[in-house]
Amino acid sequence: MTTAQAEIPELGYLAWAREVRSLAAECNAVILAHSYQVPWIQEVAHFTGDSLELSRRAAATDAEVIVFCGVHFMAETAKILSPDRTVLIPDMDAGCSLADSITGAQLRAWKDEHPGAVVVAYVNTSAEVKAESDYCCTSANAVQVVQAIPAGKEILFLPDMFLAAHVERQTGRKLEVWMGECHVHAGIEPADLEDRLAEFPDAELMIHPECGCASHAVWMASSGMLPANRTHVLSTSGMLRRAAATDARRVIVATETGLIHRLRVAQPEREFIAANEAAICRYMKMITPDKLLDSLRLNIHEVTVDRDVADRARLAIERMIAIG
Ligand code: 13P
Ligand code: SF4
Repeated sequence: MTTAQAEIPELGYLAWAREVRSLAAECNAVILAHSYQVPWIQEVAHFTGDSLELSRRAAATDAEVIVFCGVHFMAETAKILSPDRTVLIPDMDAGCSLADSITGAQLRAWKDEHPGAVVVAYVNTSAEVKAESDYCCTSANAVQVVQAIPAGKEILFLPDMFLAAHVERQTGRKLEVWMGECHVHAGIEPADLEDRLAEFPDAELMIHPECGCASHAVWMASSGMLPANRTHVLSTSGMLRRAAATDARRVIVATETGLIHRLRVAQPEREFIAANEAAICRYMKMITPDKLLDSLRLNIHEVTVDRDVADRARLAIERMIAIG
């Protein structure tokens, strides 16, 4: 049991889940949860997915209220896509260190230095940054988004330098890169992979492109230090697909540890091992079962986005949804 689950000792999972679902039905709410959420919240949600899947759900829902169990930029994206819905987040402080690494003013100054460049922003950015961008992308479609931009066009890619390196490798394009990072993924290092492989030499490796170790792992695989046919750099949804297709019995997973729960539920016959047990996003884990209940009970923590900012950001997000 995780700390967050232990915060509601008087209510077992079933009683809590029944209350959450019945309150959601009363207020015509849909509960969306990111794959890095604690297991109870993943299980009670109407839909659990990665950033791209959740954006698609938010755009398509006919519920009056969206309760977003994820971080603030994701709830903002839902609000931009569904401006007539009420969007709630169980904890307003659930931010993202990667999204905080660039502001709208910084992006405007960067664009001034590169007139005519196309701006591709990872969805892990504020609404204000999205409003200054031409395309959004997630780890699931960053490569396809860059491929959709005519060759020869200068591209400003932000804010994750490790995802940028992955996109450069996959597309063969040179990008201008904002040097931000996610502290959780950046903290998963090459030594973690080597230690885990020494322990489980037959395991397959799945590595999220935001990880500090992703470039090094690709280099190690190409120089024979890691098994090339068992080393895969994959988005969150890519990991779920690969886990269904692989015949490996054991898989080492380099990403936020919340995904391990989803992988285990989806593929109970396989063993999933965290590359680094400390890869826990404290912002994602601010969304606790009791805060979800309070948000539904009291209809609190509404996410709003300035209409002009939302209108400008929507185009970049809709392009992201349309690609890949
Ligand atoms: P996705 O793989 O869902 O794009 O998310 C990565 C991440 O770090 C979300 O905060
Ligand atoms: Fe942001 Fe990293 Fe947490 Fe994702 S895991 S929400 S990128 S801090």
